[in-house]
Amino acid sequence: MKHLLSINDLGKEDALELLNLAIEMQNVNSRDVKKLPALNGRTVANLFFEDSTRTRISFELAAKRLSADVINFTAKGSSVSKGESLKDTVQTLEAMGVEALIVRHNHSGAVNTIANADWSKASVINAGDGTHEHPTQALLDALTIRQRLLGKDHLGDLTGLAVLIVGDILHSRVARSNMLLLRKLGARVAICGPATLIPEGIEGLSDQVFYNLDEALQHGFDAVMMLRIQAERMNSAFMPNGAEYASGWGLGDSRFSKLGTKTLILHPGPMNRGLEISSSAADSEQSAILDQVTNGVAVRMAVLYKLLAQEQSNVR
Ligand code: CP
Repeated sequence: MKHLLSINDLGKEDALELLNLAIEMQNVNSRDVKKLPALNGRTVANLFFEDSTRTRISFELAAKRLSADVINFTAKGSSVSKGESLKDTVQTLEAMGVEALIVRHNHSGAVNTIANADWSKASVINAGDGTHEHPTQALLDALTIRQRLLGKDHLGDLTGLAVLIVGDILHSRVARSNMLLLRKLGARVAICGPATLIPEGIEGLSDQVFYNLDEALQHGFDAVMMLRIQAERMNSAFMPNGAEYASGWGLGDSRFSKLGTKTLILHPGPMNRGLEISSSAADSEQSAILDQVTNGVAVRMAVLYKLLAQEQSNVR
């Protein structure tokens, strides 16, 4: 495996191998000295053309915990503002010895272009491209769901679990990657949102589509993943005003109080509190939102290790 561009790059066994490798990385992260020598002397670059907190910082931390040298490139403040092309930016970084490019871009497909064009020999990891995919987010979500619902010792798939993904499905690369991965791992995945935010043809990617959240929640899902309303990617025609959206599709206090106490709540972040999720739901014991963030470091260590480190039987 040279690149990770899409969940479609992974077979079920590849995905399970990454999740189980992430558990070994969690063990490293719980040590006093949270460091492995695996990528000592290697250089990776975070190449971010779109804002990020969780993904950029966790990839940086993951690379540092594997002893790599890390370059943080953000389009803002770079020579991109002077018109430098994507190709020249990539080749400039490679000329400095970068062996892996962790790329976030606002255009769907830009990451594939970097990987498939003959610009560089670097491994490319998709850190979120437009409305297309965010594969490491889906891996960290799957790890979080598995550990919270099936236990930390469970190394198998997610058969028997049902997950509901709610909100702005149309613009969500997180939803797309999660639908692909969770179903690959045997979970049943349903989606719910206003009709304007459910893309045509989504039936092939999910097991069931709901337009009414109260009706959906009556089906008793094991996990409910609330998505961020991506205001920057839409105009007002896509949804009613914020108050109507929150009333129809938000996990507000009233819906949260009716949710079973065993239902896991997820959100990839950043959250719009009061819009798609209330603070009482986000900060509750059944919320896994901060676990998702913590697991992001371990999952990204696993991905970097798998792509860049030599095959070894055990993590040292
Ligand atoms: N979940 C996620 O991708 O968050 P960031 O935009 O903060 O990286």
